[in-house]
Amino acid sequence: MATIVFYLIFSSLLLFFACACDSCVHKSKASYSNSSSALAAGTCGYGAIAMDFNGGYVAAASPALYRKGVGCGGCFQIRCKDSKLCRGGRVTVVLTDLNKNNSQTDFILSRKAFMALVRPGKISKLMTLGTVNIEYKRIPCEYKKHNLTVKVEDSSQKPNNLAVNFPYQGGQTDILTVDVAQVGTSDWKFMTRSAYRAIWNTSNAPAGALHFRVAVIGGFEAAWIFTGEVLPANWKIGSVYESGVQITEIAQDGCSACDTKEWK
Ligand SMILES: *[C@@H]1O[C@H](CO)[C@@H](O)[C@H](O)[C@H]1NC(C)=O
Ligand SMILES: *[C@@H]1O[C@H](CO)[C@@H](O)[C@H](O)[C@H]1NC(C)=O
Ligand SMILES: *[C@@H]1O[C@H](CO)[C@@H](O)[C@H](O)[C@H]1NC(C)=O
Ligand SMILES: *[C@@H]1O[C@H](CO)[C@@H](O)[C@H](O)[C@H]1NC(C)=O
Repeated sequence: MATIVFYLIFSSLLLFFACACDSCVHKSKASYSNSSSALAAGTCGYGAIAMDFNGGYVAAASPALYRKGVGCGGCFQIRCKDSKLCRGGRVTVVLTDLNKNNSQTDFILSRKAFMALVRPGKISKLMTLGTVNIEYKRIPCEYKKHNLTVKVEDSSQKPNNLAVNFPYQGGQTDILTVDVAQVGTSDWKFMTRSAYRAIWNTSNAPAGALHFRVAVIGGFEAAWIFTGEVLPANWKIGSVYESGVQITEIAQDGCSACDTKEWK
C-alpha cells in the first residue's frame, strides 16, 4: 500500500499552534478510577479496544487537555512527585476520556497506571488521600504491534452514513481533518468530527472500497497521511480495519513560555 506523506504549511494555523507547548513539563495532580473499562470506553469513543492501548494505562484528562476531543489519543508521561508515597518511576497513559468529575486534578488514571506509580505499602493511604502531586508532559505515542486502525462506529448506516474513529494514533500530533474517497479516485469527501468525541462522520460516504486522507498537525508543521484501501466495499458496522500506515510525526513546538522541557 502506497503511503505518501508530504509537508504543508497552513499559514493561518501557524499562529494558533505557535503557542502550543506540548513537550513541556507541567506540575499538577492526579487521582485514579477503579474502573479501567469505564475510562477506556470513555468520551473519546474508542470503546473496548482502548483497554489494549498501552496495556490498559489510560486516563481521563481535564477539559484543558481534552480540548473538546482534539486531545483524544494523546500520550502523556506522568511522574509522581511524592517520594514517600510513590516508587519514583514514570508511567505513560493514553487519553481516552474527559474528566468531568474532579476539577482538582488534570488526570484520572486507570487503576493499573496509578498502581504502577505508588509504593505497594502506601496504596490504602493514597486511596484515602484521593490525589497525588505529579509532573506530566505530552510524549509521542508508540504502537509497535499496531498500525493506525479504523473502527467503524455503530452509529454508521450503510450505504451513506459512515462514522469512524482512529485507535492506535501514533506520534505526537492532532488529527485536524479526515477525508474519505473510493479507492482509485481522489474525489475526497470530508468528514466532520463530533463535538467532544474523536469520531469522524459523513452522510456522503462513497460506494466501493474506501481509502482515507488524514491531516495531522502540531507545532509548526502539518502532514497529510494517505492510506491505501482500508475499508472493503462490504465494510461492516462495528468492525475494525488496519490502515497499513503509522502516524509517526512529532509536533515541533516553540516552547519558550514553560518552566522546563526536562524533568527536574
Ligand atoms: C477497587 O477495586 C479493587 C479490586 O477490584 C477492590 O478490591 C476495591 O475495593 C475497589 N475500591 C473501591 C473504592 O471501589
Ligand atoms: C464520573 O462520574 C460518573 C458517574 O459517577 C462515572 O460513571 C464516570 O466513570 C466518572 N468518570 C471518571 C473519569 O471518573
Ligand atoms: C454525525 O455527526 C452528527 C453531529 O455530531 C450527528 O448528529 C450524526 O448522528 C452523526 N452521524 C453518524 C452516522 O454518526
Ligand atoms: C503495518 O503496515 C505495514 C505496511 O502496510 C505492514 O507491513 C505491517 O505488517 C503492518 N503492521 C501491523 C501490525 O499490522
